Amino acid sequence: MKALVLAGGTGSRLRPLTHTSAKQLIPVGNKPILFYALESIAEAGIVDVVVVVGDTADEVMTAVGDGVDFGIRVTYLRQEQPLGLAHAVQMAEEYLGKDDFLMFLGDNLLRDGVGEFVRDFSTQVDAAGVMKAGHSRPLSASILLSRVEEPQYFGVAELENGRVARLVEKPAQPRSHFALVGAYLFRPAIFAAVRAIQPSLRGELEITDAIQWLLDHGHDVAWREVSGWWKDTGKPEDVLDANRLVLDGMVSGRSGAMPDRGHAENLAIGAGGISPKSPSQPMRDAERRPSLASSRVFGRAFVHPTAQLIRSVIRGPVVIGEGARIEDAYVGPYTSIQGGVTVRRTEIENSIVLAGSIVEDISRLDGCLIGKRAKITAASARPKGMRLIVGDDSRCEL
Ligand code: G1P
Repeated sequence: MKALVLAGGTGSRLRPLTHTSAKQLIPVGNKPILFYALESIAEAGIVDVVVVVGDTADEVMTAVGDGVDFGIRVTYLRQEQPLGLAHAVQMAEEYLGKDDFLMFLGDNLLRDGVGEFVRDFSTQVDAAGVMKAGHSRPLSASILLSRVEEPQYFGVAELENGRVARLVEKPAQPRSHFALVGAYLFRPAIFAAVRAIQPSLRGELEITDAIQWLLDHGHDVAWREVSGWWKDTGKPEDVLDANRLVLDGMVSGRSGAMPDRGHAENLAIGAGGISPKSPSQPMRDAERRPSLASSRVFGRAFVHPTAQLIRSVIRGPVVIGEGARIEDAYVGPYTSIQGGVTVRRTEIENSIVLAGSIVEDISRLDGCLIGKRAKITAASARPKGMRLIVGDDSRCEL
């Protein structure tokens, strides 16, 4: 089994962040969304991974490298234009060869990973690729489904007598609440399907249509309902939701929630309130703990040892990255502060602040997604009007 990870696309709904950055590299819990996908692929025992990249190829390739940090081997494929998920499958055919493969959309986050999904499929098809009991026709794909409130924004699956009967991409009037999750398992029959279909109204070759083609041509498609939460991080609200879910997982100690990949030993963990004088829980490495000058930490906070907390209150779940400086501030639940950020005389919660930004003298920030190197401060001179230098496609609610 191989994997095909899609990390191209323009991320138009995540502008302005995606003007300068790949949507799959936006961090939640201080870890790029794409890394969670690569980790779950490795956990499922898959080693050979083709990553499809687009305009943000350089950034993705720099972040992921050859995959060795994840325990996988990565080959990159450049998709010059976003012509659809099925087009990416077409392009990858010569790399995937005759193997079964998992296709994973790099902006999707699945709490429980894909291990069981992959195992299930592997047991339905024997080593020679012949499907075992339960399917009267060749089993050529398996899809992962999740019940959602607004299925019109997703590919939708209609089931009949427990079988997949019909798939429709973003139907105006959905006939089921089952959305297609961005993880699919395919046998090589999919290559004939992606060659046979026509572009949709949005001008893309839809993987949903390719799977429908399989159904129409006498193939079976297995399905499984996703366990745990699933998040497609297409919009800012989704990214903040994903951040909340990941930080919540951190509280319950799930390994998937460890931020700052590979630096677990660098994380200071404060549970139930820690202070320099009376740590309620021993630090892993007393020498390397972050500076906590007169600060109080409640709940679970992952604070990088080089971060400085000065006269501040931190209420977890929170993650604070390398060299961040939190001064006379309150950082409340579900906040991810990346490396090199300064938060001064400000209250912030339920937000993500990316590397190198400065937030100063703002009474309260809630539900914010702040890009890299942004500077948000109070007006110091009169007249005290708001002075905004805001990038293209930004959104401010003042
Ligand atoms: C894609 C698929 C859709 C699926 C979704 C999951 O949509 O086309 O069927 O439900 O991913 O994230 P897109 O995000 O490209 O609009």
